[in-house]
Amino acid sequence: MSVASADGAIGIFDSGVGGLTVLHALRDLLPREHIIYLGDTARLPYGTKSPETVQRYAAHAAGWLMRQEIKLLVVACNTASALALESLREWVAPVPVIGVVDPGAAAAVSQSVRQHHLVLATEATTTQRAYTRAIRALRPEAVVEELPCSLFVALAEEGWGDDAVAKAAADKYLGTIRSRVSADRPDTAILGCTHFPLLRGVIAEALGPEIVIVDSASTTAAAVVTRLDELNMRNSAQMPGRLRLVATDGAARFARTGSAFLGQSFGPGDIELTDIHPSDIANAEAQ
Ligand code: DGL
Repeated sequence: MSVASADGAIGIFDSGVGGLTVLHALRDLLPREHIIYLGDTARLPYGTKSPETVQRYAAHAAGWLMRQEIKLLVVACNTASALALESLREWVAPVPVIGVVDPGAAAAVSQSVRQHHLVLATEATTTQRAYTRAIRALRPEAVVEELPCSLFVALAEEGWGDDAVAKAAADKYLGTIRSRVSADRPDTAILGCTHFPLLRGVIAEALGPEIVIVDSASTTAAAVVTRLDELNMRNSAQMPGRLRLVATDGAARFARTGSAFLGQSFGPGDIELTDIHPSDIANAEAQ
């Protein structure tokens, strides 16, 4: 494959709009980088699908981004990071790949006193136990509980992240943790899904004040900076970087729900629609 250049774009994908929280953090740290964000809205959610299906979808998304000659790939989707990161790394090499699981695990370990962690994520992510492995790689003695909270994805998509319905769901999923005696409670809760930062308030309330909420957006962005510096691949232009927002379906819905995740409003006209063809796998493999 052609060697990526420093003025190439960073490619980032998620199953939908949730990864815009990572994009937001990236743009804060790297305002001069060109970024292409791909949301695979046509196939959302990934979090209830089988590992084989998630791996296939992730390969399609990565293959599409590779055709844009990106210099670094960010897998902003926790489910895809948990299930497909290693295979993606092989396919797109030597383009570096940063996922969200390792940065999230590192953030939790650094903020925990008792190394007792709670991971809130999709069913596919928790079944894989990728966070448990990433945390134990840093702290073998850590206790890690992983809890699927699939309904939070739909609530965030609906824009109901902080109302009575979200509060009831958070109490149902998390109430028993709060009622444990202090010593048995985790001391960090990792938001191990792109959508969960939008429910941060109700999650924090349901868990109680002693549990620190950790999210991986800013630590993932910091990992991207570190990797670009290691490779001497930062864009040295003095101009602000260009942003392309691309989705596989529903520009109007993407704009409506995505603005809350990005923390900035944008309209359907700002979204390019694309189709991800299975031939993109072959493209990724051929690079
Ligand atoms: N992006 C997914 C994740 O972070 C959540 C949405 C989905 O299930 O596709 O796990």
